[in-house]
Amino acid sequence: MSTVTDTLLSVIGQPQARVDGPLKVSGAATYTSDVDLPDLLHAVPVCSTIASGRITSLEFAAAQSMPGVHAVLHRGNIGRFYRISGNSMDTGFVDEARPPFDDDVIRYYGQYVALVIADTFESASAAAAAVKVGYDVAPHDVSDELGGYENAHVESERGDPARAFDSAPVKLDATYVTPVETHNPIELHATVAQWDGEGYTFYETSQAVSNHQGTLMQMLGLPKEKVRVISRFLGSGFGGKLWMWPHSLLAAAATRHTGRPVKLVINRKMMFQNVGHRPVTQQRMRLSADRDGKLTSIRHEYLNHTAIADDYQETCGEITPFLYSVPNLRVSSGLVKRHVGSPTAMRGPGAVPGLYGLESAMNELARELKIDPVELRLKNEPRVDESTGLPFSSRHLAECLRTGAEKFGWGQRTPEVGSMKRDGLTLGWGVGACGWPGVRFSAQASVDLRADGTARVVCGTQDIGTGTYTILAQLVASQTGLPLDSIDVELGDTMQPLGPISGGSAVTASVIPAVLQAARAAVDIVLARAGAVADSPFKGAKPEELAFSAGRVHRKDAAAETGVPYGAILEAAKMYSASGNGSAQGGFDDPLKKEYSIYSYGAHFAEVTWQPEIARLQVSRVVSVIDAGRILNPFAGRNQIEGAVVMGVGMALFEHTMYDSRNGAPINSNLADYIIPSHADSPKLDVTFLDYPDTVFNELGARGIAEIGLAGIASAITDAVHHATGVRVRKLPVMIEDLLGAEQGA
Ligand code: MOS
Repeated sequence: MSTVTDTLLSVIGQPQARVDGPLKVSGAATYTSDVDLPDLLHAVPVCSTIASGRITSLEFAAAQSMPGVHAVLHRGNIGRFYRISGNSMDTGFVDEARPPFDDDVIRYYGQYVALVIADTFESASAAAAAVKVGYDVAPHDVSDELGGYENAHVESERGDPARAFDSAPVKLDATYVTPVETHNPIELHATVAQWDGEGYTFYETSQAVSNHQGTLMQMLGLPKEKVRVISRFLGSGFGGKLWMWPHSLLAAAATRHTGRPVKLVINRKMMFQNVGHRPVTQQRMRLSADRDGKLTSIRHEYLNHTAIADDYQETCGEITPFLYSVPNLRVSSGLVKRHVGSPTAMRGPGAVPGLYGLESAMNELARELKIDPVELRLKNEPRVDESTGLPFSSRHLAECLRTGAEKFGWGQRTPEVGSMKRDGLTLGWGVGACGWPGVRFSAQASVDLRADGTARVVCGTQDIGTGTYTILAQLVASQTGLPLDSIDVELGDTMQPLGPISGGSAVTASVIPAVLQAARAAVDIVLARAGAVADSPFKGAKPEELAFSAGRVHRKDAAAETGVPYGAILEAAKMYSASGNGSAQGGFDDPLKKEYSIYSYGAHFAEVTWQPEIARLQVSRVVSVIDAGRILNPFAGRNQIEGAVVMGVGMALFEHTMYDSRNGAPINSNLADYIIPSHADSPKLDVTFLDYPDTVFNELGARGIAEIGLAGIASAITDAVHHATGVRVRKLPVMIEDLLGAEQGA
């Protein structure tokens, strides 16, 4: 393991503006739906208007004869698709496994039943509206009441939690419910597919081009080299764009059928029906403690809804087994079938609703105990991961809580409901802790140091908008001393070395070893050449006598400025570039996880203001302290947590996809009716990173920060709502109706 050098520290850990920023603000960045190709056709799907039943007839003759229409695809003519085998992240993973039009059965509202291909989007849309579908309607169920836990299975267990609970002096038994939430990145899902007679190129809104390729090649029945997937820029995804959805296959069928490239952009309504959502969760939390606040038991039973044809588990119990020290614990889970499209990963899947349950229960228990909720958490800080007995690679939750309390002014809190006022408003204060696994996936990268003094780094990962382009440039800069603007970053293409999925907050930790290794290999080539080329001031020098910094080769004992620009050495060596490769292994079966418990932690402190006279509630202030290892780019990092906290305000107060019980349709399926926080709803944000490098995980000690910021925040807000109003809301989001008539706080 090499030491962290001065060069490295001049770029790693420094706030850097995004290198792709100018392309984005000038409109020059090409997103998937911007891709234009000669002879491009447009495809628009026809969606089912029932949630359960069978297709009995399809009338498309009128649509087919409309101007500009090339074809209407349906079950009878779409051609063959295959099911993927194994559904594994190594070879291809999907949440909705059924290929489109695979049978006549309708299992959710909006399911694709036909596809119109036309010259223009407008012609295709008009013709899609003219297709008539007959149905044999069957009963459906989209209810968010999930029932009991009879069929739950145990995920984690120790001690005898039932006995400990029964004999405990202080206990809490409460059920928490979170609603369906829908990913609403501004960029809609889109595919531009091109069949050239031999293979396909897919321009995709994909957080995982290699997985997209693995899925598509299997479902199309083609070898890997016949399927290329490209995703250069993403207008975010929040997990909704991790896995392939059926519209990609529709686009493939359309280009296969017409022999022309086809663009398919799904609309906002389809975003609510066809490309995943966070499922309803229902969590019964039973906690007990002795009078001093030492936890004696935790039971976490949870259910989530899933689709009729696909099982998706929202792993709410992921963090519960080790967040606190407790001798008796049981986590169990179960699935409940509903007539909805398949759920999928949404920012912090599992942990986000799960920590809303656990942390709300901790806050309620603190009230029962009459102990400060920060104090309760500190009293139950574990020494090791009690679910596995493994040591923590790096855990600073207690410092997150203490630092956050200090910055927030938590010491001023008076716990009585409605007791705190400011400027005529009632204040409520709440806290929530969070955790998220440190994950790293396999990654490969290449770095070229070019004779013209620039460099290039290539890795087949994606930038979801969070700063991956910039991180890759920073990593190369750390090894070469080159300015960021002379480093080209190329990613988002399956022709490139295999990169990690943009999921699980794992990209940074995954690419660090591969990119550093590739950069060092390229540097080593330059150093080896430096002593070998004629006329070199280093003639005869061994590589180990030389150093490479600030873009120059110099003697180790001399300053960088005395050195020679590396480009001159490559010129002299008649080399266009020095190229290095790097690769690193990872995955959910990472052997390091058998030795260490590797997680990020954090604490959020939230303030709400409450005006009972007009029932106005606002989240006014949030202080977040995050322990996620070393932060490579505090500027982009802070943006991540700020965005997550604002999303947490949405989770606590606004986001809720509602289904119409009559036809099973998501009814607020647009950005006017699906409420997300506006600027005016956003609190004053204060983000602190503790910045303790987790060098067990990688040499720079970065763990990843995308998802953790959303975990724990909703429980901090709902506890603040209780503190202000006296109303304990256990079913998200908090509605103004829940607070009307609140006696307290007036
Ligand atoms: Mo994240 S939900 O793993 O994109």
